Amino acid sequence: MHNVLEWTDELSVGNKKIDEQHKDIIRTVNVLFDSMVTSVGSKKTLKCIHDLDNYIKNHFSYEEDYLHKYNYPKAKEHIKGQVIFLKEYKKLREKCPDEKSLNDPDTLIDITLGLNNFLVPWVRDHIIKEITEFSAFWKEVAIKEKKAHK
Ligand SMILES: [Fe+2]
Repeated sequence: MHNVLEWTDELSVGNKKIDEQHKDIIRTVNVLFDSMVTSVGSKKTLKCIHDLDNYIKNHFSYEEDYLHKYNYPKAKEHIKGQVIFLKEYKKLREKCPDEKSLNDPDTLIDITLGLNNFLVPWVRDHIIKEITEFSAFWKEVAIKEKKAHK
């Protein structure tokens, strides 16, 4: 399988749970692309898209909860970025509401290109941004959470 994104230890933001969520997103994006290239319009492709919907939704709300809980100074700005992303993602998602839509070769190419041009760089940038902007914050969160559970 050819991976469009690769997880390495350098992508760690210093918070285990966040890293696991990022890994899930990367893994799903890779499987999604593989399924699109190898099995046109399959159930697997649609399942990947649904998984991705859930992972993104859960990850955003998980991050948001913590940004608010620990008063991250740029929380508003970060959430604004997520809203812009979701708008673009929604546009792309509307093109593939069901398995049938993925059986149309033109739609499939359209979605594959859209995901490649938009989703892959976004995931990469999202993680890198978190490393540069948030790693101190996520480390702090991990310490506070550990203390709270003692
Ligand atoms: Fe993230």
